[in-house]
Amino acid sequence: MKYEFPAGFWWGSAASGPQTEGTIPGDGKGASIWDHWYEQKPELFFNQVGPEDTSYVYNRYKEDIALMKKTGHTTFRTSIQWSRLIPDGVGAVNPEAVAFYNSYIDELLANDIEPFMNLYHFDMPLSLQQKGGWESKEVVDAYADYARICFELFGDRVKKWFTHNEPIVPVEGGYLYQFHYPSVVDMKKAVQVAYHETLASAKAIKIYHEMNLDGQIGIILNLTPSYPRNENDPEDVKAARLADAFFNRSFLDPAIKGTFPEDLVSLLKELDYLPEYTQSELELIKQNTIDILGINYYQPRRIMKKESTERLSDKPMPDDYFDNYIWPERKMNPYRGWEIYEKGIYDCLINVRDNYGNLPCFISENGMGVEGEERYINADGRIEDDYRIEFVQNHLKYVHQALQEGCNVKGYHMWTCMDNWSWTNAYKNRYGFIAVDLADEGKRTIKKSGYWFKEVSDNNGFDA
Ligand code: NOJ
Repeated sequence: MKYEFPAGFWWGSAASGPQTEGTIPGDGKGASIWDHWYEQKPELFFNQVGPEDTSYVYNRYKEDIALMKKTGHTTFRTSIQWSRLIPDGVGAVNPEAVAFYNSYIDELLANDIEPFMNLYHFDMPLSLQQKGGWESKEVVDAYADYARICFELFGDRVKKWFTHNEPIVPVEGGYLYQFHYPSVVDMKKAVQVAYHETLASAKAIKIYHEMNLDGQIGIILNLTPSYPRNENDPEDVKAARLADAFFNRSFLDPAIKGTFPEDLVSLLKELDYLPEYTQSELELIKQNTIDILGINYYQPRRIMKKESTERLSDKPMPDDYFDNYIWPERKMNPYRGWEIYEKGIYDCLINVRDNYGNLPCFISENGMGVEGEERYINADGRIEDDYRIEFVQNHLKYVHQALQEGCNVKGYHMWTCMDNWSWTNAYKNRYGFIAVDLADEGKRTIKKSGYWFKEVSDNNGFDA
C-alpha cells in the first residue's frame, strides 16, 4: 500500500540547545541548573558524562545542517538556551549567543530547512533557580522578557515558536520523582511550578501576538494516552482518567482551551494543593491560547485502580490515585525501557480532533532510544538500524490513518537528528538518524534510517 502525505508535510527532527550545543570556553554562556547539578553530583549522570560534553553543535552546525539535508529534513526544531542568550537569566544579552543563533538560523534557511524554535527545554538559568525557578513569579516575568528578546532578535526569520517543551517534565522530575534539579518531593510546589509554566507560556503568547510577527506560536507537550486495564471496571476507568488529568490535560486544557480541567482542580482544592493565582492571571491564560500544538509521543500509560500500598511521600501524590501495569512486553530496548505502542500516536491525534477543536498540530517528537547500539555496526562502519526504520514507519502509518480521518496534522519530527546527550542518561540511549562517535571526536555517520528517511521525505511517503 502507498502511504502518501499531503503536499508540504513537514519532515524533520527535533533537538534542544542544552543537549547538543556543548560548552565552549569563552562562549559567554551562563550556568544552567544542569551545569550546576553536574558539578555537584556527577555520579548521578550515566558514565559521569555531563552537559558540557554534548555533540558540539555550537562549532559544528554547518556540517550538521549539511547532514540534515542529506537525511531529508525540510524542517528542524531546536531551542535557544536561555542561559546562553542571557547569562544571568535577566539583564545583559550575550553578543556571542546572538551571533551564534543568527548564523545557525541563517544556515538552516540557506539549506531550505525551516527552523522551529523552542524557548524552554528544561534549562533554567542557575541565577534564576536561586530565586526559586518556576516556583517564583519573578521568574515568570523574567521568562516573558526573555521571550520578547528572542522574538525581537530572531522573529523575522523564525516563523514557528514554542513556549515550552514537555512542561510536565520539570514538574515531575524536579518536584515529584527526583530526576531533575532541584530534585525534591513536594506536590504543592509541583502544582505551583506547573501553574507558573502555563502562566509564562500565556504571557509569551500574548507578547508574540501583539508583535504581529508573521508566524505561529505553540507549545510542545508529551502526551501519554492513559489506557485503563479493564474498560468495564469503573474504578480502573476513573484511575486512568485521573492519570490523564495529571499528566496530559493539566497542560493541554489551558494551552488550547484557556482553562484548567475541572476534575483536577477540584481534587487539588480538596487536598489544599491549589497554587497561588489571581483572577487577572486566569483571564490572561484564557485569552492567550496556542496557534499550534506539538505532540511528543513515545509511550502510553497503562493504568489500573490503586492496589498497592506503596507510598512515595506521606503527603498525597499522583501515584496515590492509580497503579501502573505492564502491557504488553514490547520494549524499545532489548533489555528494558519504554513500551512500543504505535496506535497511541493515532489516539493522541484523534483526541485533538475530537476534544480540542482539531487545532493544527504536528508530531514534534517520536523515536526510539537504544542502549548499546554500536553492536549493530556493519563492516562498513554503518549502523543498520532496521528496528528504527520499522518503528518510525509503523508510527507514520498511524499518522497517515489519522490524516485520512480528518486530523489536522502537519508534520512529523523524529527525536533526534544525531545521537545526543539526554540529561542524567547522558549517551546511554542512542536516538539519532546519525551516529556520533564519542571515541572519535564526535565523528558523525548517517545510519541506515537516515538514508531511509531521506527517501520518505523526497517521495512524501512510502510504500509498505
Ligand atoms: C523528550 C525530551 O524533549 C528530550 O529532551 C529527551 O531527550 C527525549 N524525550 C528522549 O528521552
